[in-house]
Amino acid sequence: MSKADSDHLLKVFAGRAGLDLAQAMCDRLEIPLGQARTELFPDGELMVKVEEDVRGRDCFVVQSTSHPVNANVMELLIYIDCLRRASAKRITAVIPYFGYARQDRKDEGRVPITAKLVANLITAAGADRVLCMDLHAAQIQGFFDIPVDHLSAAPVFLEYFDDHRDMWGNLVVVSPDVGNVKVANKYADSLGADLAIIDKRRESGMEVVTRNVIGDVEGKTVLMIDDIISTAGTVCEAAKVVMEYGAKDVICAATHSVLVGPAMERLTTSPISSIIVTDTLPNGDRFQPIQDRLVRLTVANLLGDAVHRIHHDQSVSSLLQARIGTKR
Ligand code: R5P
Repeated sequence: MSKADSDHLLKVFAGRAGLDLAQAMCDRLEIPLGQARTELFPDGELMVKVEEDVRGRDCFVVQSTSHPVNANVMELLIYIDCLRRASAKRITAVIPYFGYARQDRKDEGRVPITAKLVANLITAAGADRVLCMDLHAAQIQGFFDIPVDHLSAAPVFLEYFDDHRDMWGNLVVVSPDVGNVKVANKYADSLGADLAIIDKRRESGMEVVTRNVIGDVEGKTVLMIDDIISTAGTVCEAAKVVMEYGAKDVICAATHSVLVGPAMERLTTSPISSIIVTDTLPNGDRFQPIQDRLVRLTVANLLGDAVHRIHHDQSVSSLLQARIGTKR
């Protein structure tokens, strides 16, 4: 089969939480975005209608399961069901941000493992594969009994960091909690920087308490690396404490800009001078209050290249050969 014939079989669709990213991926792939629409009925039900032939096609549906999480999960499931019933040959769920990932274990009695439940639902709906990015915990891949390609946004961050490294001078990479130390350490090695760790305790979904900084930050530019900024409690508390320990400046970088609840207020009043995130989930105009400090990098080319490789049965691991792997 010629490349043109094979590309003709490739279809990329998007749910409402993946539209802009999917369009940018399609631009990279030089194919049109698949025609489809999602309708919201007055009683709150969703309906997805795919408006082109997908019989025998290799279909990808891009949808982050970000806020509103339950509606976005449901839309993804309905999309997959729709494509399956329309006789798509293979369906890959492209989930740049996988919600519920932080509910990945029973850390006390009588709690669910909702990340596993969502993985079961995606599989039961009819997905054949999953393509995702910087899962909160890499072992979530194992919650799926179908192939999972787990990408890291590190190549995108490193390109930006390398361009700014000289400007930052004496640099220390800070992990805002112990969970992210492995990744922070690799960034530190890669950037020729020191490493420090914050001693963080989570009090609730909204509040964190930071006590000590393990490592030396005095007089240095701090580059804080995390996977998610949600209520921004973690990064803002960590920023406060490193400034108390004498840091010169704080920059933070995180793949997924969930930014809910008090996040904007916290970031606006925090000492963080630059917030570097990616476009794994839609943010609309919510960034307005922090626009002057925000750098939003795109992972569209990385995901587009992964889609190209999956479609052509080529290895995706070469896209992972960056200097940094995925979290934990
Ligand atoms: C925690 O383990 C994660 O890596 C993030 O630090 C955390 O989920 C961020 O949440 P928030 O912004 O609400 O503190």
